[in-house]
Amino acid sequence: MRTLLVVGIGPGNPEQVTIEAINALNRADALFIPQKGADKADLADLRREIVARYVTNPAARLVPFAMPVRDEATASYAARVADWHQAIAAIHARLIAEELGEDGTGAFLVWGDPSLYDSTLRILARVREAGAPPFSVTVIPGITSLQALTAAHAIPLNRVGEPVLVTTGRRLAEAPPDTDTVVMLDGKLAFKALDGEDYDIHWGAYLGTPDEILVSGRLSQVAEKIERRRAEARARHGWIMDTYLLRRRA
Ligand SMILES: C[S@@+](CC[C@H](N)C(=O)[O-])C[C@H]1O[C@@H](n2cnc3c(N)ncnc32)[C@H](O)[C@@H]1O
Repeated sequence: MRTLLVVGIGPGNPEQVTIEAINALNRADALFIPQKGADKADLADLRREIVARYVTNPAARLVPFAMPVRDEATASYAARVADWHQAIAAIHARLIAEELGEDGTGAFLVWGDPSLYDSTLRILARVREAGAPPFSVTVIPGITSLQALTAAHAIPLNRVGEPVLVTTGRRLAEAPPDTDTVVMLDGKLAFKALDGEDYDIHWGAYLGTPDEILVSGRLSQVAEKIERRRAEARARHGWIMDTYLLRRRA
């Protein structure tokens, strides 16, 4: 039976790749590398750097594959994501059938950790349901961007005995949070709609990389600075990945 290793590679710092991940990558015959277009070439480069640095198994082949883009013309968000996952599933099914022998091992290099705002495991479940050749799945956990954020700011994630919500920019825009909240996937600066006097923010972009940017403070005092630095960095790199923790002030 084929084996698929879904390997968390951390959020951008090759030194945040675990020994378990390195050993897993060295067990694979094929290393599947998503290409996300020119803007995100840096991300594919980082995956390649990790392979170059840590994979010593001469039998391991790099197998780049083109990632489909979401069709923004589809009105419903859920339908847009479902169609996109279906398109990726078709590609994964082909990779599994064509790039792996019957007892072969393939590895997907997943940004951060596969459990957090990543659909590789959901997509592999679709591939299995669609009747692909049988395969087993092993997950290797990775450092998340959330951990990179709290480490970079040297702060604990939660306050004593308190919960933390992890959500997206889209969801944050729906209601101001009462609990401490980590926001990911926020392309629209959803924090701007909050009352900045009520929150502290710890924001980070390109966490763990040489381009890391950190800003923290009372939201009312730093929101504009974050917006400005985000726009400048995005223009310079052509893409940005940022995340932040909001703490409601007492
Ligand atoms: C599709 S999710 C993937 C999350 C990933 N699985 C993880 O464990 O961190 C992408 C989002 O993660 C966050 N992110 C990932 N890497 C980051 C980094 N190096 N710096 C800042 N935010 C990052 C951003 O909010 C980005 O929009």
